[in-house]
Amino acid sequence: MSHKSIAIDGPAGAGKSTLARRLAEKLGFLYVDTGAIYRTVALKVLWEKADPADPIQVIPLLKGLDIHMTYNSDGEQRMYLEGEDVSGAIRRHKVSGAASQVSAIPEVRSFLLDFQRKLARENNVVMDGRDIGTVVLPKADVKIFLTAAPEARAKRRLLELEQRGEAADFLEILRDIKERDYQDEHRAASPLRQAADAILLDTTDLDLGQSISRLLFLVKEKIGL
Ligand code: DC
Repeated sequence: MSHKSIAIDGPAGAGKSTLARRLAEKLGFLYVDTGAIYRTVALKVLWEKADPADPIQVIPLLKGLDIHMTYNSDGEQRMYLEGEDVSGAIRRHKVSGAASQVSAIPEVRSFLLDFQRKLARENNVVMDGRDIGTVVLPKADVKIFLTAAPEARAKRRLLELEQRGEAADFLEILRDIKERDYQDEHRAASPLRQAADAILLDTTDLDLGQSISRLLFLVKEKIGL
């Protein structure tokens, strides 16, 4: 029996991971956060003191890369690098920039492609990322493009960092978000863009509860679960 897949793409801070995870929970699907996989590759590059923007330094590190993921009982995805749980470390600010840089390298993307497709072959998934509906799962049953104004995304990120006790500055976050959007949208390899058959969901003026209801409605309408 073939598995169902729901692709959720969009820029950083649009609420993808929170919403995708809630949706997966409601549907009993596996939640796959593909950004976390790129972040883990970036962390390895930083561990090796290599330059994440330089393919010559990054590509050799892919060989023998020891990454795996597990899910705990409440569906939370945990990332391991060389056996170490790096789920917290990959959220650091420095890793965000490095992840955006390594993700622009075509060899990194193709290396992670099979890994992601295999997960979707073997499970019902809600997969979030930047190119899930366009490249990774072009035949996904439902494709959502989730977005929000940069200022709204920066405000959410600020709150998230504050809750984790990390000092942060709104303007700095806003600048970073815009810079990452630009990098993600303008790279040659699988740039961030809405698939022609994706449904646009703008969450600028929606709170979490409203966003999840809207998302569930769209998904149910499409695949009648
Ligand atoms: O969603 P995130 O912020 O955790 O993603 C980290 C970086 O990885 C982001 O800059 C873009 C990149 N990424 C990607 O290129 N393709 C994906 N499917 C997921 C993330």
